[in-house]
Amino acid sequence: MPGNITEMDFDNLQVLLLHKHPEFTRECCDMINEEWPRSETARMMSLRASCDDLPTSLILINDKKLVLGHCKLTAIPTIPESCFIETVVISKAFRGKKLGTYLMRKVEEHCKYNLKLKMVHLSTKGQENFYAKLGYEICPPVSIYGSHIPNYKPTEISHKVEIPVPIKTAASSTAPPPPPMPRNENLINNNVIKSNKTFMFKYL
Ligand SMILES: CC(C)(COP(=O)(O)OP(=O)(O)OC[C@H]1O[C@@H](n2cnc3c(N)ncnc32)[C@H](O)[C@@H]1OP(=O)(O)O)[C@@H](O)C(=O)NCCC(=O)NCCS
Repeated sequence: MPGNITEMDFDNLQVLLLHKHPEFTRECCDMINEEWPRSETARMMSLRASCDDLPTSLILINDKKLVLGHCKLTAIPTIPESCFIETVVISKAFRGKKLGTYLMRKVEEHCKYNLKLKMVHLSTKGQENFYAKLGYEICPPVSIYGSHIPNYKPTEISHKVEIPVPIKTAASSTAPPPPPMPRNENLINNNVIKSNKTFMFKYL
């Protein structure tokens, strides 16, 4: 198939933990910033946070040591048996050659066998079909903030996800106000997560 990577070519690919190969951090930063421009310092800091536990950045490289793809895994405190897959990107010149599929499969294996997770979540705007082809299903929005929801089942929770409201006590009414929540593109209003993104999940 012209332009398409063959089965043989996949033998030349590797998915690596970025923190074990920090020499690829700059190249990875440039590739991500080509897709989603952001301060280089902030992007480098985010990539350097990668570790064996979460967050973890995984990169796809070929035998010429070219960074072809990236994805980041972050914790979902409310759902410890899952993690959030974000910043999935394949280098512009290499798209449509099944590399995204290859990267996602390897990332899912890492989540299942190394991180011992039962499922993975993500959100997207426009790439729903790509993820659907990989077996992802639409689910209610999840927040990467908050605390553990026991026995979370992605298909059984209503699309309106309740966020616990802190109970006001005499002590808390005199205490200084908590710091503002980190900025999140998912707005939290009336204790319901609202998002213009499609949330998806997959059992591993
Ligand atoms: C989305 C992305 C990672 C896909 O990687 P890729 O290597 O181009 O995808 P693949 O070649 O593995 O595609 C697998 C299948 O998904 C389909 N697909 C890929 N991108 C798609 C899209 N945007 N919309 C619909 N289908 C898509 C392909 O046509 C292919 O279908 P097929 O199996 O029937 O041939 C890549 O296009 C990319 O980096 N996009 C820009 C960044 C981005 O939007 N990332 C996702 C953030 S949520």
